Amino acid sequence: MSAEKIERRNIHTYPFKYTHTPAEEFFASEKAAIYVHIPFCTKRCHFCDYVVRIGSNSSLREQYVDAVCKEIRQFRSIPCFPSFLIDALYVGGGTPGLLESRQLTRILKTCQDTFAFTEDAEISIEFDPRTARLDKLIEVREAGFNRLSLGLQTFDQHLLYANNRPHTVEDIYEAYDAIASARFVHTNVDILYPLLDQKMEQWEETVQKAIALKPAAITAYPLEVWSNSAYGKWLANGRKTVGWALEEAMSRYAYDRLEDAGFQRNTTGGYYHPGRARRYCRYGDYYWRTWPLIGFGVSAKSVIHDRLYTNMQDVEEYIRRIQDGQPVIDFSTRLTRRQEMRRVMIRGLKLCKVAKSEFRDRFGVAVDVVFGSEIATLVEARWIHDRADCIELTREGQVYDRSVYAVFYTEEDIRPPREGEVQYGLSDPVADCDP
Ligand SMILES: C[S@@+](CC[C@H](N)C(=O)[O-])C[C@H]1O[C@@H](n2cnc3c(N)ncnc32)[C@H](O)[C@@H]1O
Ligand code: SF4
Repeated sequence: MSAEKIERRNIHTYPFKYTHTPAEEFFASEKAAIYVHIPFCTKRCHFCDYVVRIGSNSSLREQYVDAVCKEIRQFRSIPCFPSFLIDALYVGGGTPGLLESRQLTRILKTCQDTFAFTEDAEISIEFDPRTARLDKLIEVREAGFNRLSLGLQTFDQHLLYANNRPHTVEDIYEAYDAIASARFVHTNVDILYPLLDQKMEQWEETVQKAIALKPAAITAYPLEVWSNSAYGKWLANGRKTVGWALEEAMSRYAYDRLEDAGFQRNTTGGYYHPGRARRYCRYGDYYWRTWPLIGFGVSAKSVIHDRLYTNMQDVEEYIRRIQDGQPVIDFSTRLTRRQEMRRVMIRGLKLCKVAKSEFRDRFGVAVDVVFGSEIATLVEARWIHDRADCIELTREGQVYDRSVYAVFYTEEDIRPPREGEVQYGLSDPVADCDP
Protein backbone atom coordinates (compact mmCIF):
# COMPACT_ATOMS: atom_id res chain seq x y z
CA MET A 1 0.00 0.00 0.00
CA SER A 2 1.26 3.48 -0.78
CA ALA A 3 0.24 6.80 0.75
CA GLU A 4 -1.98 8.79 -1.59
CA LYS A 5 -2.56 12.55 -1.68
CA ILE A 6 -6.33 13.08 -1.32
CA GLU A 7 -7.51 16.64 -1.95
CA ARG A 8 -11.11 16.40 -0.84
CA ARG A 9 -12.88 13.43 0.75
CA ASN A 10 -14.79 14.45 3.86
CA ILE A 11 -15.27 12.09 6.72
CA HIS A 12 -17.18 12.65 9.91
CA THR A 13 -17.25 9.15 11.30
CA TYR A 14 -15.89 5.66 10.90
CA PRO A 15 -16.74 2.89 9.85
CA PHE A 16 -18.42 3.66 6.53
CA LYS A 17 -20.61 0.58 6.12
CA TYR A 18 -23.98 0.07 7.84
CA THR A 19 -26.96 -2.22 7.35
CA HIS A 20 -30.70 -1.76 7.80
CA THR A 21 -31.27 -3.69 11.05
CA PRO A 22 -34.75 -4.02 12.58
CA ALA A 23 -34.77 -1.89 15.74
CA GLU A 24 -36.04 -4.73 17.97
CA GLU A 25 -33.11 -6.88 16.84
CA PHE A 26 -30.57 -4.08 17.15
CA PHE A 27 -31.64 -3.06 20.66
CA ALA A 28 -32.30 -6.60 21.94
CA SER A 29 -30.82 -7.40 25.35
CA GLU A 30 -27.82 -9.65 25.38
CA LYS A 31 -28.57 -13.18 26.57
CA ALA A 32 -27.03 -14.48 29.77
CA ALA A 33 -27.30 -17.31 32.30
CA ILE A 34 -27.65 -17.10 36.08
CA TYR A 35 -26.10 -19.41 38.66
CA VAL A 36 -27.34 -19.41 42.27
CA HIS A 37 -25.23 -21.29 44.84
CA ILE A 38 -26.98 -23.04 47.74
CA PRO A 39 -24.18 -24.10 50.09
CA PHE A 40 -26.05 -26.52 52.36
CA CYS A 41 -25.44 -30.27 52.66
CA THR A 42 -26.15 -32.82 55.40
CA LYS A 43 -22.71 -34.48 55.06
CA ARG A 44 -19.46 -33.64 53.31
CA CYS A 45 -18.60 -36.28 50.68
CA HIS A 46 -14.93 -37.23 50.83
CA PHE A 47 -14.20 -36.28 47.22
CA CYS A 48 -16.00 -32.94 47.29
CA ASP A 49 -14.35 -29.54 47.61
CA TYR A 50 -17.38 -27.39 46.77
CA VAL A 51 -18.17 -24.55 49.17
CA VAL A 52 -20.69 -26.27 51.41
CA ARG A 53 -21.94 -25.82 54.93
CA ILE A 54 -22.79 -28.93 56.96
CA GLY A 55 -25.32 -28.81 59.78
CA SER A 56 -27.16 -25.55 59.07
CA ASN A 57 -30.38 -24.75 60.92
CA SER A 58 -33.59 -23.44 59.38
CA SER A 59 -32.96 -19.89 60.59
CA LEU A 60 -29.56 -19.70 58.84
CA ARG A 61 -31.06 -21.13 55.65
CA GLU A 62 -33.87 -18.55 55.74
CA GLN A 63 -31.38 -15.70 56.28
CA TYR A 64 -29.31 -17.03 53.41
CA VAL A 65 -32.30 -17.11 51.05
CA ASP A 66 -33.16 -13.52 52.11
CA ALA A 67 -29.59 -12.45 51.36
CA VAL A 68 -29.44 -14.21 47.97
CA CYS A 69 -32.74 -12.60 46.92
CA LYS A 70 -31.40 -9.21 47.95
CA GLU A 71 -28.16 -9.77 46.00
CA ILE A 72 -30.20 -10.73 42.92
CA ARG A 73 -32.34 -7.57 43.15
CA GLN A 74 -29.25 -5.39 43.67
CA PHE A 75 -27.61 -6.58 40.45
CA ARG A 76 -29.63 -4.08 38.45
CA SER A 77 -27.90 -1.23 40.26
CA ILE A 78 -24.40 -2.22 39.09
CA PRO A 79 -23.86 0.59 36.58
CA CYS A 80 -21.42 -1.05 34.18
CA PHE A 81 -23.69 -3.88 33.00
CA PRO A 82 -26.46 -3.70 30.39
CA SER A 83 -29.81 -5.40 30.97
CA PHE A 84 -29.63 -9.10 30.22
CA LEU A 85 -32.19 -11.55 28.87
CA ILE A 86 -31.93 -14.76 30.87
CA ASP A 87 -31.77 -17.94 28.85
CA ALA A 88 -30.83 -20.38 31.64
CA LEU A 89 -30.94 -20.41 35.43
CA TYR A 90 -29.04 -23.02 37.41
CA VAL A 91 -29.66 -23.45 41.13
CA GLY A 92 -26.73 -25.61 42.27
CA GLY A 93 -24.75 -26.36 45.35
CA GLY A 94 -24.28 -27.84 47.75
CA THR A 95 -27.71 -29.37 47.77
CA PRO A 96 -30.48 -26.94 46.76
CA GLY A 97 -33.01 -29.76 47.34
CA LEU A 98 -32.38 -29.25 51.07
CA LEU A 99 -34.23 -25.92 50.95
CA GLU A 100 -38.00 -25.83 51.28
CA SER A 101 -39.90 -25.59 48.02
CA ARG A 102 -41.26 -22.14 48.99
CA GLN A 103 -37.63 -20.93 49.36
CA LEU A 104 -36.63 -22.35 45.99
CA THR A 105 -39.73 -20.83 44.41
CA ARG A 106 -38.89 -17.49 46.00
CA ILE A 107 -35.39 -17.53 44.49
CA LEU A 108 -36.82 -18.33 41.06
CA LYS A 109 -39.51 -15.63 41.32
CA THR A 110 -36.96 -13.06 42.47
CA CYS A 111 -34.88 -13.80 39.38
CA GLN A 112 -37.97 -13.56 37.17
CA ASP A 113 -39.03 -10.26 38.78
CA THR A 114 -35.54 -8.81 38.35
CA PHE A 115 -34.61 -10.04 34.89
CA ALA A 116 -36.49 -10.74 31.67
CA PHE A 117 -36.36 -14.44 30.70
CA THR A 118 -36.52 -16.05 27.26
CA GLU A 119 -39.79 -17.89 26.68
CA ASP A 120 -38.25 -21.35 26.82
CA ALA A 121 -35.55 -20.60 29.40
CA GLU A 122 -33.96 -23.66 30.99
CA ILE A 123 -34.45 -23.62 34.78
CA SER A 124 -32.31 -26.28 36.48
CA ILE A 125 -32.01 -27.50 40.03
CA GLU A 126 -29.79 -30.04 41.83
CA PHE A 127 -31.00 -32.63 44.30
CA ASP A 128 -29.36 -35.54 46.08
CA PRO A 129 -31.44 -38.73 46.37
CA ARG A 130 -32.35 -38.09 50.02
CA THR A 131 -33.87 -34.69 49.28
CA ALA A 132 -35.80 -35.70 46.16
CA ARG A 133 -39.20 -36.25 47.77
CA LEU A 134 -42.37 -36.29 45.68
CA ASP A 135 -44.24 -33.32 47.23
CA LYS A 136 -41.20 -31.06 46.92
CA LEU A 137 -40.49 -32.19 43.37
CA ILE A 138 -44.05 -31.46 42.27
CA GLU A 139 -43.96 -28.02 43.89
CA VAL A 140 -40.68 -26.98 42.28
CA ARG A 141 -41.76 -28.28 38.86
CA GLU A 142 -45.02 -26.36 39.11
CA ALA A 143 -43.04 -23.25 40.11
CA GLY A 144 -41.18 -23.47 36.79
CA PHE A 145 -38.08 -25.64 37.27
CA ASN A 146 -37.83 -27.74 34.11
CA ARG A 147 -34.50 -29.56 34.44
CA LEU A 148 -33.42 -31.62 37.41
CA SER A 149 -29.98 -32.99 38.18
CA LEU A 150 -29.61 -35.84 40.65
CA GLY A 151 -26.22 -36.78 42.14
CA LEU A 152 -25.87 -40.57 42.37
CA GLN A 153 -22.10 -41.09 41.97
CA THR A 154 -22.25 -44.90 42.30
CA PHE A 155 -24.72 -47.76 42.68
CA ASP A 156 -22.35 -49.59 45.01
CA GLN A 157 -23.61 -49.36 48.59
CA HIS A 158 -20.17 -49.92 50.06
CA LEU A 159 -18.64 -47.10 47.98
CA LEU A 160 -21.51 -44.76 48.87
CA TYR A 161 -20.80 -45.40 52.53
CA ALA A 162 -17.00 -45.20 52.15
CA ASN A 163 -17.34 -41.80 50.46
CA ASN A 164 -19.68 -40.39 53.10
CA ARG A 165 -22.57 -39.95 50.68
CA PRO A 166 -25.81 -38.83 52.33
CA HIS A 167 -27.92 -41.59 50.73
CA THR A 168 -28.24 -45.31 50.03
CA VAL A 169 -28.79 -47.24 46.78
CA GLU A 170 -32.42 -47.70 47.81
CA ASP A 171 -32.77 -43.90 48.08
CA ILE A 172 -31.58 -43.59 44.46
CA TYR A 173 -34.43 -45.75 43.18
CA GLU A 174 -37.02 -44.07 45.42
CA ALA A 175 -35.82 -40.64 44.27
CA TYR A 176 -35.95 -41.64 40.64
CA ASP A 177 -39.50 -42.98 40.98
CA ALA A 178 -40.52 -39.70 42.63
CA ILE A 179 -38.89 -37.69 39.83
CA ALA A 180 -40.82 -39.69 37.23
CA SER A 181 -44.09 -39.30 39.20
CA ALA A 182 -43.48 -35.55 39.45
CA ARG A 183 -43.20 -35.57 35.63
CA PHE A 184 -39.79 -34.01 35.29
CA VAL A 185 -38.89 -34.55 31.65
CA HIS A 186 -35.29 -33.39 31.55
CA THR A 187 -33.48 -35.32 34.26
CA ASN A 188 -29.70 -35.62 34.47
CA VAL A 189 -27.92 -38.08 36.74
CA ASP A 190 -24.31 -37.58 37.91
CA ILE A 191 -21.95 -40.50 38.27
CA LEU A 192 -18.31 -40.17 39.31
CA TYR A 193 -15.12 -42.16 38.64
CA PRO A 194 -12.72 -43.35 39.88
CA LEU A 195 -13.64 -43.38 43.54
CA LEU A 196 -10.83 -44.54 45.80
CA ASP A 197 -10.47 -48.35 45.59
CA GLN A 198 -13.23 -48.56 42.96
CA LYS A 199 -13.02 -51.69 40.81
CA MET A 200 -13.80 -51.79 37.10
CA GLU A 201 -16.82 -54.07 37.73
CA GLN A 202 -18.29 -51.54 40.18
CA TRP A 203 -17.98 -48.79 37.58
CA GLU A 204 -19.49 -50.98 34.87
CA GLU A 205 -22.45 -51.72 37.13
CA THR A 206 -22.91 -48.00 37.85
CA VAL A 207 -22.87 -47.04 34.16
CA GLN A 208 -25.32 -49.82 33.28
CA LYS A 209 -27.70 -48.99 36.10
CA ALA A 210 -27.59 -45.27 35.29
CA ILE A 211 -28.49 -46.10 31.66
CA ALA A 212 -31.31 -48.38 32.86
CA LEU A 213 -32.96 -45.41 34.61
CA LYS A 214 -33.46 -43.91 31.12
CA PRO A 215 -32.60 -40.31 32.06
CA ALA A 216 -32.39 -37.55 29.43
CA ALA A 217 -28.76 -36.91 30.38
CA ILE A 218 -25.93 -38.62 32.22
CA THR A 219 -22.86 -36.81 33.46
CA ALA A 220 -19.88 -39.11 34.04
CA TYR A 221 -17.56 -36.88 36.04
CA PRO A 222 -13.88 -37.77 36.01
CA LEU A 223 -12.62 -37.32 39.57
CA GLU A 224 -10.95 -34.02 40.36
CA VAL A 225 -8.74 -34.04 43.41
CA TRP A 226 -8.43 -30.75 45.25
CA SER A 227 -6.21 -30.31 48.29
CA ASN A 228 -8.99 -29.14 50.61
CA SER A 229 -11.09 -32.32 50.15
CA ALA A 230 -10.58 -35.50 52.19
CA TYR A 231 -9.23 -37.14 49.01
CA GLY A 232 -6.66 -34.34 48.64
CA LYS A 233 -5.45 -34.86 52.20
CA TRP A 234 -5.33 -38.67 51.84
CA LEU A 235 -3.31 -38.46 48.64
CA ALA A 236 -0.93 -35.97 50.22
CA ASN A 237 -0.42 -38.56 52.98
CA GLY A 238 0.49 -41.29 50.53
CA ARG A 239 -2.83 -42.98 49.74
CA LYS A 240 -3.13 -43.91 46.08
CA THR A 241 -5.82 -43.41 43.46
CA VAL A 242 -6.74 -46.42 41.31
CA GLY A 243 -4.12 -45.32 38.76
CA TRP A 244 -4.39 -43.75 35.34
CA ALA A 245 -4.65 -47.01 33.38
CA LEU A 246 -7.85 -48.03 35.16
CA GLU A 247 -9.23 -44.48 35.08
CA GLU A 248 -8.67 -44.38 31.32
CA ALA A 249 -10.40 -47.77 30.92
CA MET A 250 -13.35 -46.46 32.94
CA SER A 251 -13.57 -43.35 30.77
CA ARG A 252 -13.56 -45.40 27.55
CA TYR A 253 -16.09 -47.86 28.97
CA ALA A 254 -18.56 -45.08 29.84
CA TYR A 255 -18.17 -43.49 26.40
CA ASP A 256 -18.74 -46.80 24.56
CA ARG A 257 -21.70 -47.98 26.66
CA LEU A 258 -23.43 -44.60 26.60
CA GLU A 259 -23.00 -44.35 22.86
CA ASP A 260 -24.37 -47.90 22.44
CA ALA A 261 -27.39 -46.82 24.50
CA GLY A 262 -28.09 -43.89 22.13
CA PHE A 263 -26.46 -41.06 24.12
CA GLN A 264 -24.45 -38.33 22.43
CA ARG A 265 -21.43 -36.77 24.03
CA ASN A 266 -21.83 -33.04 24.61
CA THR A 267 -19.10 -32.14 27.06
CA THR A 268 -16.03 -34.10 28.08
CA GLY A 269 -18.23 -35.83 30.70
CA GLY A 270 -21.79 -34.90 29.73
CA TYR A 271 -24.04 -37.03 27.52
CA TYR A 272 -27.66 -36.60 26.47
CA HIS A 273 -30.18 -38.83 24.73
CA PRO A 274 -31.61 -37.00 21.66
CA GLY A 275 -34.82 -39.06 21.90
CA ARG A 276 -35.48 -37.68 25.38
CA ALA A 277 -34.10 -34.12 25.30
CA ARG A 278 -33.14 -31.49 22.77
CA ARG A 279 -29.85 -30.72 24.44
CA TYR A 280 -27.59 -31.67 27.31
CA CYS A 281 -27.71 -28.43 29.31
CA ARG A 282 -28.14 -24.89 28.02
CA TYR A 283 -26.63 -23.42 31.19
CA GLY A 284 -23.49 -25.43 30.36
CA ASP A 285 -23.18 -23.56 27.07
CA TYR A 286 -22.97 -20.25 28.89
CA TYR A 287 -20.63 -21.70 31.50
CA TRP A 288 -18.22 -23.37 29.09
CA ARG A 289 -18.48 -21.08 26.08
CA THR A 290 -17.80 -18.12 28.35
CA TRP A 291 -20.97 -16.32 27.41
CA PRO A 292 -22.28 -13.93 30.08
CA LEU A 293 -22.84 -15.71 33.38
CA ILE A 294 -24.08 -13.96 36.50
CA GLY A 295 -23.49 -15.72 39.83
CA PHE A 296 -25.29 -15.16 43.14
CA GLY A 297 -24.62 -16.60 46.59
CA VAL A 298 -21.43 -17.64 48.35
CA SER A 299 -18.53 -18.68 46.08
CA ALA A 300 -20.60 -18.02 42.93
CA LYS A 301 -18.52 -16.82 40.03
CA SER A 302 -19.55 -14.36 37.37
CA VAL A 303 -17.99 -13.90 33.97
CA ILE A 304 -19.42 -10.91 32.17
CA HIS A 305 -17.53 -9.78 29.09
CA ASP A 306 -13.99 -9.11 30.30
CA ARG A 307 -14.90 -9.00 34.02
CA LEU A 308 -14.46 -12.17 36.03
CA TYR A 309 -15.27 -12.11 39.74
CA THR A 310 -16.05 -14.53 42.54
CA ASN A 311 -18.10 -14.06 45.68
CA MET A 312 -16.78 -14.66 49.18
CA GLN A 313 -17.17 -18.13 50.71
CA ASP A 314 -18.17 -17.56 54.33
CA VAL A 315 -21.95 -17.85 54.75
CA GLU A 316 -22.35 -15.62 57.83
CA GLU A 317 -20.03 -12.92 56.45
CA TYR A 318 -21.91 -13.01 53.13
CA ILE A 319 -25.26 -12.56 54.92
CA ARG A 320 -23.87 -9.75 57.09
CA ARG A 321 -22.44 -7.86 54.12
CA ILE A 322 -25.61 -8.17 52.09
CA GLN A 323 -27.67 -6.97 55.07
CA ASP A 324 -25.30 -3.96 55.39
CA GLY A 325 -25.49 -3.21 51.67
CA GLN A 326 -21.78 -3.98 51.15
CA PRO A 327 -20.28 -5.75 48.10
CA VAL A 328 -19.65 -9.50 48.45
CA ILE A 329 -16.88 -9.87 45.87
CA ASP A 330 -13.89 -11.82 47.11
CA PHE A 331 -11.46 -11.74 44.16
CA SER A 332 -11.61 -10.69 40.55
CA THR A 333 -9.67 -10.09 37.36
CA ARG A 334 -10.10 -8.24 34.07
CA LEU A 335 -9.35 -10.49 31.12
CA THR A 336 -7.00 -9.26 28.44
CA ARG A 337 -8.14 -9.96 24.90
CA ARG A 338 -5.49 -12.66 24.60
CA GLN A 339 -6.68 -14.36 27.80
CA GLU A 340 -10.25 -14.21 26.59
CA MET A 341 -9.19 -15.96 23.37
CA ARG A 342 -7.36 -18.69 25.31
CA ARG A 343 -10.31 -19.04 27.63
CA VAL A 344 -12.67 -19.53 24.69
CA MET A 345 -10.42 -22.33 23.38
CA ILE A 346 -9.78 -24.08 26.70
CA ARG A 347 -13.33 -23.96 27.94
CA GLY A 348 -14.88 -24.37 24.51
CA LEU A 349 -12.97 -27.62 24.04
CA LYS A 350 -14.55 -28.89 27.28
CA LEU A 351 -17.63 -28.96 25.06
CA CYS A 352 -15.54 -30.99 22.59
CA LYS A 353 -15.86 -28.40 19.81
CA VAL A 354 -15.10 -24.73 19.06
CA ALA A 355 -16.88 -23.28 16.02
CA LYS A 356 -14.51 -21.22 13.89
CA SER A 357 -17.27 -18.76 12.96
CA GLU A 358 -18.02 -18.11 16.63
CA PHE A 359 -14.36 -17.32 17.32
CA ARG A 360 -14.17 -14.99 14.34
CA ASP A 361 -17.44 -13.23 15.19
CA ARG A 362 -16.29 -12.68 18.75
CA PHE A 363 -12.71 -11.56 18.13
CA GLY A 364 -12.71 -10.41 14.51
CA VAL A 365 -9.83 -12.70 13.61
CA ALA A 366 -9.61 -16.35 12.53
CA VAL A 367 -8.73 -18.94 15.15
CA ASP A 368 -6.12 -20.41 12.78
CA VAL A 369 -4.33 -17.06 12.69
CA VAL A 370 -4.21 -16.71 16.48
CA PHE A 371 -3.59 -20.35 17.47
CA GLY A 372 -2.04 -21.83 14.29
CA SER A 373 0.89 -23.46 16.10
CA GLU A 374 -1.23 -24.86 18.98
CA ILE A 375 -3.66 -26.33 16.44
CA ALA A 376 -0.81 -27.91 14.45
CA THR A 377 0.65 -29.45 17.64
CA LEU A 378 -2.71 -30.93 18.62
CA VAL A 379 -3.44 -32.25 15.12
CA GLU A 380 -0.04 -33.97 15.15
CA ALA A 381 -0.82 -35.52 18.55
CA ARG A 382 -4.17 -36.68 17.04
CA TRP A 383 -6.08 -35.01 19.83
CA ILE A 384 -8.07 -32.66 17.61
CA HIS A 385 -9.59 -32.57 14.13
CA ASP A 386 -8.98 -29.26 12.40
CA ARG A 387 -12.17 -29.15 10.31
CA ALA A 388 -13.28 -26.42 7.88
CA ASP A 389 -15.89 -25.11 10.33
CA CYS A 390 -14.59 -26.15 13.77
CA ILE A 391 -11.83 -27.45 15.98
CA GLU A 392 -13.07 -30.72 17.46
CA LEU A 393 -11.61 -33.11 20.02
CA THR A 394 -10.92 -36.60 18.70
CA ARG A 395 -11.87 -39.58 20.89
CA GLU A 396 -8.28 -39.69 22.14
CA GLY A 397 -8.42 -35.95 22.75
CA GLN A 398 -11.49 -36.48 24.90
CA VAL A 399 -9.61 -39.02 27.02
CA TYR A 400 -6.56 -36.71 27.25
CA ASP A 401 -8.55 -33.48 27.39
CA ARG A 402 -6.45 -32.06 30.22
CA SER A 403 -3.36 -32.37 28.00
CA VAL A 404 -5.21 -30.55 25.21
CA TYR A 405 -6.06 -27.55 27.40
CA ALA A 406 -2.45 -27.39 28.63
CA VAL A 407 -1.25 -26.60 25.09
CA PHE A 408 -3.06 -23.24 25.39
CA TYR A 409 -1.54 -22.25 28.76
CA THR A 410 1.22 -19.63 28.85
CA GLU A 411 4.14 -19.49 31.32
CA GLU A 412 2.31 -16.64 33.00
CA ASP A 413 -0.72 -18.91 33.55
CA ILE A 414 1.14 -21.66 35.37
CA ARG A 415 3.76 -19.73 37.34
CA PRO A 416 3.23 -19.71 41.13
CA PRO A 417 1.07 -16.82 42.39
CA ARG A 418 2.86 -13.66 43.49
CA GLU A 419 2.14 -11.73 46.66
CA GLY A 420 -1.32 -10.22 46.45
CA GLU A 421 -2.49 -12.73 43.83
CA VAL A 422 -5.04 -15.50 44.39
CA GLN A 423 -4.40 -18.86 42.73
CA TYR A 424 -7.72 -20.16 41.46
CA GLY A 425 -8.94 -22.99 39.27
CA LEU A 426 -5.72 -25.00 38.93
CA SER A 427 -5.05 -28.04 41.13
CA ASP A 428 -1.72 -28.34 42.97
CA PRO A 429 0.99 -30.95 42.25
CA VAL A 430 -0.13 -33.28 45.09
CA ALA A 431 -3.58 -33.48 43.62
CA ASP A 432 -2.18 -34.07 40.12
CA CYS A 433 0.08 -36.99 41.09
CA ASP A 434 -0.52 -40.52 39.92
CA PRO A 435 0.73 -43.56 41.91
C1 LIG B 1 -22.98 -30.03 43.73
S1 LIG B 1 -22.95 -31.67 43.38
C2 LIG B 1 -24.60 -32.27 43.06
C3 LIG B 1 -25.74 -32.23 43.93
C4 LIG B 1 -25.70 -32.95 45.24
N1 LIG B 1 -24.98 -32.15 46.17
C5 LIG B 1 -25.14 -34.33 45.18
O1 LIG B 1 -23.96 -34.48 45.44
O2 LIG B 1 -25.88 -35.25 44.91
C6 LIG B 1 -22.55 -31.71 41.69
C7 LIG B 1 -21.76 -32.91 41.23
O3 LIG B 1 -20.39 -32.62 41.27
C8 LIG B 1 -19.71 -33.84 41.17
N2 LIG B 1 -18.48 -33.76 41.96
C9 LIG B 1 -18.37 -33.44 43.26
N3 LIG B 1 -17.07 -33.50 43.64
C10 LIG B 1 -16.36 -33.85 42.54
C11 LIG B 1 -14.97 -34.07 42.29
N4 LIG B 1 -14.08 -33.95 43.25
N5 LIG B 1 -14.60 -34.41 41.04
C12 LIG B 1 -15.52 -34.52 40.03
N6 LIG B 1 -16.83 -34.33 40.23
C13 LIG B 1 -17.25 -34.00 41.46
C14 LIG B 1 -20.62 -34.93 41.70
O4 LIG B 1 -20.85 -35.89 40.69
C15 LIG B 1 -21.89 -34.17 42.05
O5 LIG B 1 -23.05 -34.87 41.74
S1 SF4 C 1 -20.99 -33.92 46.41
FE1 SF4 C 1 -22.95 -32.90 46.74
S2 SF4 C 1 -23.73 -33.77 48.69
FE2 SF4 C 1 -21.57 -34.24 48.60
S3 SF4 C 1 -20.61 -32.56 49.78
FE3 SF4 C 1 -20.51 -32.05 47.58
S4 SF4 C 1 -22.27 -30.80 47.21
FE4 SF4 C 1 -22.64 -31.87 49.18
